[in-house]
Amino acid sequence: MATQIDPAPVAGTRPRHVAIIMDGNGRWAKARRLPRVAGHKQGVEAVRRVTRAARDLGLEVLTLYAFSSENWRRPVEEVRDLMGLLRHFLRAEIATLVADNVRLRVIGDYRALSDDLVALIDDALARTAANTGPTLVIALNYGAQAEIAAAARRLATAARNGAIDPAAIDEASVEAELTTHDLPPLDLMIRTSGEQRLSNFLLWQAAYAELLFVDTLWPDFDAATLAEALDIFSRRQRRFGGL
Ligand code: IPE
Ligand code: IPE
Ligand code: MG
Repeated sequence: MATQIDPAPVAGTRPRHVAIIMDGNGRWAKARRLPRVAGHKQGVEAVRRVTRAARDLGLEVLTLYAFSSENWRRPVEEVRDLMGLLRHFLRAEIATLVADNVRLRVIGDYRALSDDLVALIDDALARTAANTGPTLVIALNYGAQAEIAAAARRLATAARNGAIDPAAIDEASVEAELTTHDLPPLDLMIRTSGEQRLSNFLLWQAAYAELLFVDTLWPDFDAATLAEALDIFSRRQRRFGGL
């Protein structure tokens, strides 16, 4: 389907859409003989810093992996701590997001979270929906395989109902069913803490994203680390299968 592939942008450009797998909070805490939750708290500070930096650096979309659909496998106390921090973050940050003209988006099955969190999220989404500035996407209870399976389910239902022809299903039809369908293409995926895997994050969207694995632990990530990542991106040559 060559027709739907954008021509390769020239090197030296700035990414429009950056995603970050925020990893290493636990190791940050362990290195300081602190409980893991202390690392998650510092991780929230990093989210604040990096969200601001992304805006200052002119990114259109910053997508942050905050809680995966597999993170429920963690001990209940840790899940509770993470949800508590999310609650605190939403309450504390909503005014800033509104003031900064940031549009909040959530991907993932956040409706499976506790009722009060769902209400907080819905409120934050509603209050920032009309904003026209950069978009902050938070992935909550997100799994890329589940996202793709849900897209397949909807297409299958539409085909069964006769609304679409199965033979006409192509990449664009699947893409249109993803939660990211109206966002600019993912340009750069960063993972912190030295791990080199995607852990079920944006698998479809990462097809031609540049991948960057940095050793920095998430709580240490700051504006300078982000600026450095953008600099590395600007020197990558993207070919999208062409020459
Ligand atoms: C990332 O830090 C935060 C979440 C996954 C929610 P981790 O908690 O995975 O930190 P490490 O990998 O144990 O260091
Ligand atoms: C990925 O980190 C999920 C988030 C950052 C939210 P994990 O720490 O959960 O990933 P694995 O388990 O090491 O692959
Ligand atoms: Mg981890």
